[in-house]
Amino acid sequence: MKLTMRLGERSYDIIIKAGALNHVGELTNLRRRALVVTDDGVPPQYAQTVAAQCSEASIVTVKQGEGSKSMAGFEQVLTAAMEAGLRRSDVIIAVGGGVVGDLAGFAAASYMRGIDFINCPTTTLSQVDSSIGGKVAINLGDTKNIVGAFWQPRLVVADTAALDTLTPRHYANGLAEAVKSGLIADAELFELFETQDAHEKIEEIITRSLVVKKNIVELDEREGGPRAALNFGHTLGHAVESFEGLGGLYHGECVALGMLPMIDDSALRQRLRAVCKKLGLPARVDYDGDRVLDYIRRDKKAGGEGVKTVRVREAGQYYFEYATFDELRALAKEGIR
Ligand SMILES: NC(=O)c1ccc[n+]([C@@H]2O[C@H](COP(=O)([O-])OP(=O)(O)OC[C@H]3O[C@@H](n4cnc5c(N)ncnc54)[C@H](O)[C@@H]3O)[C@@H](O)[C@H]2O)c1
Repeated sequence: MKLTMRLGERSYDIIIKAGALNHVGELTNLRRRALVVTDDGVPPQYAQTVAAQCSEASIVTVKQGEGSKSMAGFEQVLTAAMEAGLRRSDVIIAVGGGVVGDLAGFAAASYMRGIDFINCPTTTLSQVDSSIGGKVAINLGDTKNIVGAFWQPRLVVADTAALDTLTPRHYANGLAEAVKSGLIADAELFELFETQDAHEKIEEIITRSLVVKKNIVELDEREGGPRAALNFGHTLGHAVESFEGLGGLYHGECVALGMLPMIDDSALRQRLRAVCKKLGLPARVDYDGDRVLDYIRRDKKAGGEGVKTVRVREAGQYYFEYATFDELRALAKEGIR
């Protein structure tokens, strides 16, 4: 399957296909210097497969985990780019999950004031969501994504066969973002999770999720309006994610929890709980409401007495609503517990 993100001169193709990592060189110009960025949790053969198709490639392997989306990780990638002798016409290629994509993309946006970036996502989360749209970032201390850029890739290659080596928990984690896409804009995608086996339908799930995101990004590349709908579940989700003591929940797991309170209809909320259980995502968590609200107040999106939230009235339809912190606390109590 091929999609095209249409953003004028920043347009690019998105390829979704089992085995596609073997064909990156046929899809774009790799007859130049390339720095392939991966992490030590990604099976090394994926980066090697891509590097072998470049005329001159170096591979830099950062440590797996969110800790690499840091100033130290950023410096490691930039230093590798400089040591590899990358020039303005060369390319940085991410082969990994959302951590590698966000880090390598930000390095590409910054190195020599911006060079080409190719993203080869290898997790469900990065294939259904993070690899397109151009948001690239690192964290500063424990504040997520606070330093970054909008830097669109030149090409995205999602090889669905690479997902076979993921742990079941990481596999399910990424599906939460696809469930989100269904809830905000594609009711049939949401129903697919209820009626079908997600593994068997993975190519369709990835494609439909990316279509949802693509349509929104094409309208609003820099999040001045509708793009904020993609943050459905993320206001509470990020807050839960930032806590220690919750057993180290993953990003998608927290998004799943964050979506529940933002659904108006209790029957749809029950359907989401059932989907979460089926996929192996959490559907309830105990948390300290005051700490959640404190975090949201400090979060970069919060200003004044409340926040703009994304709500879902029925599957496939979102709307925006301002919520005071007290309203948010009440909603969260009802929905997450
Ligand atoms: N830029 C965006 O629009 C956007 C959107 C959503 C999330 N994100 C970011 O994405 C990040 C999370 O991404 P993620 O869930 O992909 O996590 P991740 O990149 O940390 O990958 C999860 C784990 O899987 C391993 N892995 C990756 N591919 C593998 C494979 N094919 N087989 C076996 N193991 C593999 C990694 O080494 C890592 O340990 C967060 O930093 C989040 O902020 C960005």
